Amino acid sequence: MRALTVEPLTSGSAEVRDVPDPEAGPGEMLVEGLALGICGTDREIVAGEYGWAPPGRDRLVLGHESLGRVRTAPPGSGFAAGDLVVGVVRRPDPVPCGACAHDEFDMCRNGRYTERGIKEIDGYGSELWAVETGYAVKLDPRLEHVGVLMEPTTVVAKAWEQVDRVGSRAWYEPSRVLVTGAGPIGLLAVLLGVQRGLEVHVLDLATEGPKPEAVEALGAQYHSAGMAEVVQRVAPDVIIEATGVSSLVFEAMAGTASYGIVCLTGVSPVGRKISVDVGAANREMVLENDVVVGSVNANLSHYAAAADALAKADLDWLSRLITRRVPLARFEEALRGRPDDIKVVLDLAG
Ligand code: BGC
Repeated sequence: MRALTVEPLTSGSAEVRDVPDPEAGPGEMLVEGLALGICGTDREIVAGEYGWAPPGRDRLVLGHESLGRVRTAPPGSGFAAGDLVVGVVRRPDPVPCGACAHDEFDMCRNGRYTERGIKEIDGYGSELWAVETGYAVKLDPRLEHVGVLMEPTTVVAKAWEQVDRVGSRAWYEPSRVLVTGAGPIGLLAVLLGVQRGLEVHVLDLATEGPKPEAVEALGAQYHSAGMAEVVQRVAPDVIIEATGVSSLVFEAMAGTASYGIVCLTGVSPVGRKISVDVGAANREMVLENDVVVGSVNANLSHYAAAADALAKADLDWLSRLITRRVPLARFEEALRGRPDDIKVVLDLAG
């Protein structure tokens, strides 16, 4: 079978190669890959900036935003041939740490977790993949064309859960949220915000194209003015930061209403320095009981929440987020971002 492989930390090493078909071990099922979403992490791995090959090997099968159709599943597993499924990205560390022992592997404390397509386990960027039935989630068959959005939705479902948990430390009834960045994470955060009945605002640099249209179609408000002006106008109770742009991160921290929560989801590049008045930031956070919370990855409870959110969403709206579908053989095109891209997907079914 063909797989998209890469030698981590070696820029330009990505290649589609013929590799042996996977075999489903005990408790695993064999899945035909349908689609693979491409995100910033994949681009970082291909650029040689991130990623780990499986122990004893040089190359890793790339891909963590999966969608496939079950070919064979163990009897009594709850899965059957033909089911539409998504594989979970992270696996608990082998110790395991307390969080991993409590199925909260997204909160791993010792950093020894593994991740499919990212850290030490082959990913889902292949024509066939095997997955443990306990780390796969069945999707509504109606989601066949958009189910590849599941993994980024799990990241957003976790971010919202973190916001709720932080908020519930005292009386909490948020009404306005600002999402910074209208990429896939930002737009899915908007979807979940609207589903919660919040007044949702979005800030992004794009002034035309699919991003403002997707935001307005949900009844949310799109802004492309400066952050300072937007936060002043909106006074958000919650900011979900989905750009990772250093200056925006700090403006977000200063820009919430009192008892504000900033949830950071963007993985920023390191080494870009900005000058910040830490005293002012501290003063404001203390005097307003503000919280800044980082959020990464997702556990099985977030996969369940994401599956529900997608099942409730408008399918036409979801399909607008997939702005390009590229065959596996032309993966280089998919990895090269274009200004109008929201989510680019590799077609694995040939
Ligand atoms: C993935 C997460 C993963 C993180 C760090 C993100 O792109 O969506 O599942 O934990 O990268 O490796």
